[in-house]
Amino acid sequence: MSKYRSQIVELLHHNQHQYLSGQKIAEQLMISRTAVWKTIEQMKQQGFIIDSIQNKGHKLKSYPAEWDADIIQLVTRQSAYFKQQYVFKEVTSTQAVAKEKVLDNDRPFIVISEVQTAGKGRFNRQWDSQGDKGLWMSLVFSDEIPLYKITTFNLFISLAVARTIRSVSGAKAEVKWPNDIYINDYKCCGFLTEISGHANAIQQIICGIGINLNHQQADFPAELQHKATSIKEMTGETVDRYAFLDSLLSEIEHAYQQFLTHDFSDIKAEYKMYSNIWNRSLQYTEGTRKVTGQAVDILDDGRLVVRDEAGSIHHFISADIEI
Ligand code: BTN
Repeated sequence: MSKYRSQIVELLHHNQHQYLSGQKIAEQLMISRTAVWKTIEQMKQQGFIIDSIQNKGHKLKSYPAEWDADIIQLVTRQSAYFKQQYVFKEVTSTQAVAKEKVLDNDRPFIVISEVQTAGKGRFNRQWDSQGDKGLWMSLVFSDEIPLYKITTFNLFISLAVARTIRSVSGAKAEVKWPNDIYINDYKCCGFLTEISGHANAIQQIICGIGINLNHQQADFPAELQHKATSIKEMTGETVDRYAFLDSLLSEIEHAYQQFLTHDFSDIKAEYKMYSNIWNRSLQYTEGTRKVTGQAVDILDDGRLVVRDEAGSIHHFISADIEI
């Protein structure tokens, strides 16, 4: 791969409204015009659509369908919090990779992969993660966080994801307590939060997020077809994954700062408005027993309050709830 690729990607990315001549790029990067031409030809083969016109120059029209490490770097460079990222074509699970990397990395970072061969969901379920359809990513947050706060982390993050989906696509994304996002009662995103630390405080949070962006219904395995969806399936519009990632990271960073400095009670009203569990019957599993009830409230520590059919009140810190 050309050693000038990331610089040329950056120049074209920041000048998408105009043509940049080979001469200008060469001068700016202090390299030869042949090196510019060769790199641009290589980028075209790698899936960048670049309009090249003689005597005018080059203009970036669209990005490769596969995640491109140079573009992700441009996106994350805007991030005030995540300064490092690892981009893969295929891993077993970004969560597994993040857990390995956390052992010798005490700064925040991101792991993204095009494909996961063993994507993991909550309750050890499998997470279907095909290439160029979605966003499969693990975010590692590194701060000392008092133990009592962690029960509300998922609530801040789920609000950030729902806000992003609403602002980028216009779809009415809703939060299903504690960490799923639905559109029109179909699940389009789930996340998984794991922590490491010591007896008094959490030091790292590893949050694995899976978002179905551009699936068609037939892309989902048969057993998921009646309950899974993607943003594209719901809006009819293809989601630009880089623009989505950019917005998502800034919403998540904002929500994370709120989580560090505020209590859940400060965002509870908004969270409840985004939530899809009110005024409907829901089922949850207690041991081996399936119980039917209704969500009544969320407490300030993030616990869900449910009244079962017999009128008894239950408080859940985490549960598998079906709506
Ligand atoms: C769930 O809804 O059960 C949680 C799904 C979490 C999936 C994401 S995809 C990125 C990260 N890597 C994994 O293996 N799982 C999480």
